[in-house]
Amino acid sequence: MNLHIFDNESTLARAAARLIAARLRDEPRLVLGLPTGRTPIDVYAQLVAETAASRIDWSGVRSFNLDEFIGLPREHAASYRSFMWRHLFDHVNIRHEHAQFPDGMAADVEGECRRYDAAIRDAGGIDLQVLGIGGNGHVGFNEPAEELQAATHRVTLHADTRAANAGWFAGDVSQVPTEALSVGMASILMARQVLLLATGEEKAEAIAGAIEGGITTRLPASFLQLHSNATVMLDRAAASRLTRLEAAPAAPADRPAAP
Ligand code: GLP
Repeated sequence: MNLHIFDNESTLARAAARLIAARLRDEPRLVLGLPTGRTPIDVYAQLVAETAASRIDWSGVRSFNLDEFIGLPREHAASYRSFMWRHLFDHVNIRHEHAQFPDGMAADVEGECRRYDAAIRDAGGIDLQVLGIGGNGHVGFNEPAEELQAATHRVTLHADTRAANAGWFAGDVSQVPTEALSVGMASILMARQVLLLATGEEKAEAIAGAIEGGITTRLPASFLQLHSNATVMLDRAAASRLTRLEAAPAAPADRPAAP
C-alpha cells in the first residue's frame, strides 16, 4: 500500500483530486468507482475545480457508485444518487447514462444486483476505485461479518452505520433505511487501482486495523492489503493510531501525493 499522510483535509482533498484528474486526462474513457460520504465532498469540489481549470472532458467517462439505500426514492436528497449529482456530476459533462448506481427502488433486488455486476463487467471493470471507510472498517456497504460477499448484494446496515448516516437525514436515525445495495468485495479488489481516503480521529482505529492488522472479514478494508495498486491518503488524525510509520520507509509522511 502506498501511504500518504497530509496535514489536513484540504491538502488531502487537493492531492486526491489531482490523482483522479491526472487519470481522467490520460484516459478519456476511464471507468471510475466512486463513494459517497463526508470524506469525498472536498475531493469532488477540488475535482470540479480541476475539471474547469484544465478542461477535463468527462463525455467518455463512466462511473459506478459503490452503494445505495434500499427504498429511498432516487430524488430523495439523502439518496446517494442525489449526493453524486449535487457534489460532482452536475458540474462536469458526464453523460447521464454513464453515471450508474445500484437501483435501491428495484422491485427485483436480486436481478438488480446481477444487472449492476454485468454493467461493471461490460464496461471492462473499474479502472480507479475511490473508497471511503466506515468507522467499523466497512468499504462501500460491505459490513464486518463472518463472511463477505464477492458480488453486488443486499445488506442489512449495522446500527452504528445507520447512526453514522443519520446526518443525511436531519440527524434522525429512524429515517435512515435499514438496508442498502452494495457492490461486493470482488469489484473493489478487481479494480486496477484503489484510492482509499480517510480523515478524522473517528477513522483512526479502523485505519490502523486495515493497514497494520491481519486480514479479516471483521474489518473489510483490511482486504485492501492484498491489492497490488492501492494508495491510502490520510489526514494526521486518521493516521494517529498507526504504529509502524517510523519503521515503514515506503511511507512518505508529509509529502503530498504525486499527481
Ligand atoms: C458510508 C458509505 C461508505 C462511506 C462510509 C464513510 O456509510 N456507504 O461508502 O465510505 O460510510 O462515510 P464518511 O466519509 O461520511 O465517513
